[in-house]
Amino acid sequence: MTIEFLNLIARDHREIVSQLVLMSDPSASISEQQSALEVVTLGLTAHAEAEGVVLASFADIPGLQCLIAQVQAEHLAQERALSRLVCAPLGTPCAYDRAADLRDMIEHHARKEEAYLPAAFAMHAPREAYARLAAAFATERLRQLGMLHPSLEPESTQADSACR
Ligand SMILES: [Fe+2]
Ligand SMILES: [Fe+2]
Repeated sequence: MTIEFLNLIARDHREIVSQLVLMSDPSASISEQQSALEVVTLGLTAHAEAEGVVLASFADIPGLQCLIAQVQAEHLAQERALSRLVCAPLGTPCAYDRAADLRDMIEHHARKEEAYLPAAFAMHAPREAYARLAAAFATERLRQLGMLHPSLEPESTQADSACR
């Protein structure tokens, strides 16, 4: 894994976390929270899907299998937490709590990815694939953003009755 790949994923992590910090702040306006939710929804989905596609191409390498499986499992947990957040009416304690929960989840996940993925890929991935990781991730991330359907946007979701 090149340093550029690490920089790319770390940049996404910081952006997603910063938007979730805003979403968990009751002093932020509804408009700001709406914008932040759109960034989080599209950004996190594209980021995790792109990581998933890129990492899956290494899933048959024994030294990487356990770490990749952990990352993929955490992506599924994030997807569920994001769904809960999207269904929470903005400006409610429920939305603040769910944003904070997802923020904590992403921060923990990001620390793990940034600490362990580079070392594991440097040790186990083929050298030529390792060198192409940044480009592969960037390309897949753009492709995912292009494929994201408007139904992912929060306006089209039903409010969660658990938040009322
Ligand atoms: Fe990530
Ligand atoms: Fe991830």
